[in-house]
Amino acid sequence: MAILKSRKFILRPYRKGDESSLIRNINDRHVYRNTCSIPYPYTRKDALEFIKSNKLPDAGKKMINFAIDVGGEAIGGIGFREIKIHRAEIGYWLGRKYWNRGIMSEALRLATDFGFKKLRLRRVYAIVFCRNMASARILKKNNYKLEGVMKKYTLKDGKLIDVMIFAKIK
Ligand SMILES: CC(C)(COP(=O)(O)OP(=O)(O)OC[C@H]1O[C@@H](n2cnc3c(N)ncnc32)[C@H](O)[C@@H]1OP(=O)(O)O)[C@@H](O)C(=O)NCCC(=O)NCCS
Repeated sequence: MAILKSRKFILRPYRKGDESSLIRNINDRHVYRNTCSIPYPYTRKDALEFIKSNKLPDAGKKMINFAIDVGGEAIGGIGFREIKIHRAEIGYWLGRKYWNRGIMSEALRLATDFGFKKLRLRRVYAIVFCRNMASARILKKNNYKLEGVMKKYTLKDGKLIDVMIFAKIK
C-alpha cells in the first residue's frame, strides 16, 4: 500500500504497535458523536481487531485505511470502504487536540487523489451527519458536491439522524 506524504503528516498503513496512539486519539466521545462505525469506549481489543482486519488477505478489495501519522503516532485515520469497481465511500476522523489545523482538509485532498489515480475510482462519496459542519466544510473545500439530504438515514444511540451525501466525480 502506498505512503502519501504532506508537510504536516504522512498517510501510511496501520501497523502493529499503533494500538496505544490509536486508542489515545480515537477513544473520545467527540469523535464517536459524528461517526457511524467507531465504537465508544474504544478498547484495546477494538484497536487490535481493526489493525488486524486491514491485513487480511483480501481486505484491500473491500477497504483501504490510512493512519494519519505525526511523529510515528496514529493521530487520525482516513480510508475507503464499500469499494466497488468504480466507486467507494470515504471516511475520516482526527484526534480532538489536532482539530482546526487544516490536517483533514489536506488528508482528504491526498486520499481523494489516491482514489482517483491509483484505485481508478470515478466516484468518491461521503455520508455526513447534518450537524457536522466541519466535515461538510472540508468536503466543500475539496470540491465535493452536496447531492442531497437523506432523512433518518442513520440510527445513532437510539435516534434516527439526517445525513448529507457529498460526492466527487471524475
Ligand atoms: C471533521 C474533522 C475530521 C475535521 O478535521 P480538521 O483537521 O479539524 O479539519 P480542518 O482543520 O482541515 O478544517 C476544518 C474546517 O471546518 C471549519 N469548522 C470547524 N468547526 C466548525 C463548525 N462548528 N461550524 C462550521 N465550520 C467549522 C473550520 O473553520 C475549517 O474550515 P476553514 O479551513 O475554512 O477555516 C474532525 O473535526 C473530526 O475528526 N471530527 C470527529 C469525527 C468526524 O466528524 N468525522 C467525519 C465523519 S463524516
